[in-house]
Amino acid sequence: MMISSLVDLTIDLAALRHNYLQLRGRLSPGVKLLAVVKADAYGHGLVPAARTLAGAGAEYLGVASVEEGLALRQEGIDLPIILLMGVVPRESRTAVAADLDMVLYRQDVAQALGEAARSLGKKARVHLKVDTGMGRLGLNPSEVLPFLESLRNYPDLEVLGLISHLAMADVADKTYMKKQIQGFLDLLTAARDRGWELPYSHIANSAALIEMPEAHFGMARPGIALYGSPPAPGRSWGVDLKPVMSMTTQVLQLKRLPPGSCISYGCTYTTPDWCDLAVLPVGYCNGYPRLLTNRGQVLINGQRAPIRGRVCMNLIMVEVSHIAGVQEGQPVTLLGENGGERLTADDLAAWAETISYEIHCSFGNANPRRFIGA
Ligand SMILES: Cc1ncc(COP(=O)(O)O)c(C=O)c1O
Repeated sequence: MMISSLVDLTIDLAALRHNYLQLRGRLSPGVKLLAVVKADAYGHGLVPAARTLAGAGAEYLGVASVEEGLALRQEGIDLPIILLMGVVPRESRTAVAADLDMVLYRQDVAQALGEAARSLGKKARVHLKVDTGMGRLGLNPSEVLPFLESLRNYPDLEVLGLISHLAMADVADKTYMKKQIQGFLDLLTAARDRGWELPYSHIANSAALIEMPEAHFGMARPGIALYGSPPAPGRSWGVDLKPVMSMTTQVLQLKRLPPGSCISYGCTYTTPDWCDLAVLPVGYCNGYPRLLTNRGQVLINGQRAPIRGRVCMNLIMVEVSHIAGVQEGQPVTLLGENGGERLTADDLAAWAETISYEIHCSFGNANPRRFIGA
């Protein structure tokens, strides 16, 4: 990654720990917490986030790819790790050798895992993925029991539980979520009646962890709330979450433009009056969404400065006519707190017609991170 020291992406690991403890406090004793650190911990940095969460007491970690799992193992993290997308056959041996658990939904992968485990003299630990209504990865409910029974052919494969994912956990109306939970419970009961113990069965994401204790089963699987964003904006979740990621830059140039001046590509903004403009060294190459063109805001001296004109690759322009004392080189907050004002990932997401998850991933993917609060 090419480093621009003019954009500062800060990850507050103390806030991550705080959020973990808030969520942990929602779980009954004995319910485990699987911290989702996939996608580079939602842009927050896989290894530092995993270390912090493991240190705080997380029992399990969830990643997306074998590569992420191996990166954690190479850093000496020895907690159970689950590959939430599973593996393809060619990844089976590597995953089993590194003691990575995985979700399973394909017969050819079951066979590859069984063979890898036997030749390595290890167990391959799997969580059977069930689609209870997300319409994404997993077996359809009617396929689950036959699939489970077929796994008796692979004695080196250990089935730890069923896993499913909720499609509507973050909305106030819980009808659809309850239907999914009931479907999950029915399958679990039917499987247990046939002698499968399935000690690690889990369906709850952040929203269900916070609002739906019936969804906790033996383990809950939060992601976004760990990173300090509520599962969905616009309503209270009754949990004290602290944002973990913040991003700042500085004023690169200050200039005064006369009425009728065009700002940025396409002249999508023309100054109606004299305009004090701050040019900032951040753009879509830093993950800053181009949809913030003429929509987004930044914070300078504790006040909101609106973006004027198009977001460029490396630059944006903000109006500071109403803000006293702005100087070249002074700090500007793109995400986070400044002089008592705050811009959240949900604020940026609303302007960019997306969700906080994507803002976090985009900023994390594009900028070097500085870690504090370890
Ligand atoms: C399979 C799975 N489990 C858990 C989560 C965590 O969800 P959330 O970040 O909404 O808590 C995700 C996130 O996308 C996921 O894909």
